[in-house]
Amino acid sequence: MLSACVPTTGFRDIIQHPGKYELIYYGYLQNNPDTYKVSANNKDFFLTKDTVVPSVQSLYLLENTHINEGDEVLDIGTGAGIQAVFAAEKATKVIATDLNPNAVLNTKNNAIYHGVADKIEVRQGDLFAPIKANEKFDVIIFNISYPYDKNSIALWEVHERFFAQVKKHMKPDATIFYQAGWLWNVPKIVAMIENNGLLITKMNMLNMLRLNRQPIVFTIQEAAGARAKARKTVQ
Ligand SMILES: C[S@@+](CC[C@H](N)C(=O)[O-])C[C@H]1O[C@@H](n2cnc3c(N)ncnc32)[C@H](O)[C@@H]1O
Repeated sequence: MLSACVPTTGFRDIIQHPGKYELIYYGYLQNNPDTYKVSANNKDFFLTKDTVVPSVQSLYLLENTHINEGDEVLDIGTGAGIQAVFAAEKATKVIATDLNPNAVLNTKNNAIYHGVADKIEVRQGDLFAPIKANEKFDVIIFNISYPYDKNSIALWEVHERFFAQVKKHMKPDATIFYQAGWLWNVPKIVAMIENNGLLITKMNMLNMLRLNRQPIVFTIQEAAGARAKARKTVQ
């Protein structure tokens, strides 16, 4: 039972973050050394060694993701489930997926810990493979590992597949919140977005060179719909 796992080893590292949310790394639990505790905006998350620890990129995405009351949300590459758990505060339903079966288990446990297991369904698999053809969402959240340079061929391929397939799972007016990871990724990602009939409606970024991080969040919509809406607004 996760709540019985506290206290931790005493390690506590507050990650400097100029945004509004705080990220604290507590380290491994004293009585359960395989379990790591991290707190994001005062919510605790527990994860095993095989699951990626939420980073400043995770927090920055969290801050720049907007969920409306009643939304249906898809969180791809959920990790410890932080995007999914926060989304469940407002969403009617969240589907969280991950390639890593241990991340799936950690997310299920974190959803139980936060009392939102009835709203979050966690599925294992690659990108949209666990999503049925007729499942469509108001919000799609995407923060998987980011390509580092042109040699990150496998990762670029995953991001390309994401943009090629995502429209099939967007409701009209749906929004994607996407973490790009690094500034130098931006031109290639912008091309992928535009080549797939999508439009960036907002870009938020921080330059956290001290932490060797560049959190960048794109808000993305279906291009034709977003342009039509913009035209109506200016008329
Ligand atoms: C950097 S972690 C981010 C976790 C979480 N989204 C967050 O914001 O903290 C990336 C996660 O994406 C998962 N992942 C990587 N490739 C994937 C793929 N092709 N399909 C689904 N999940 C994937 C990894 O297993 C990992 O848990």
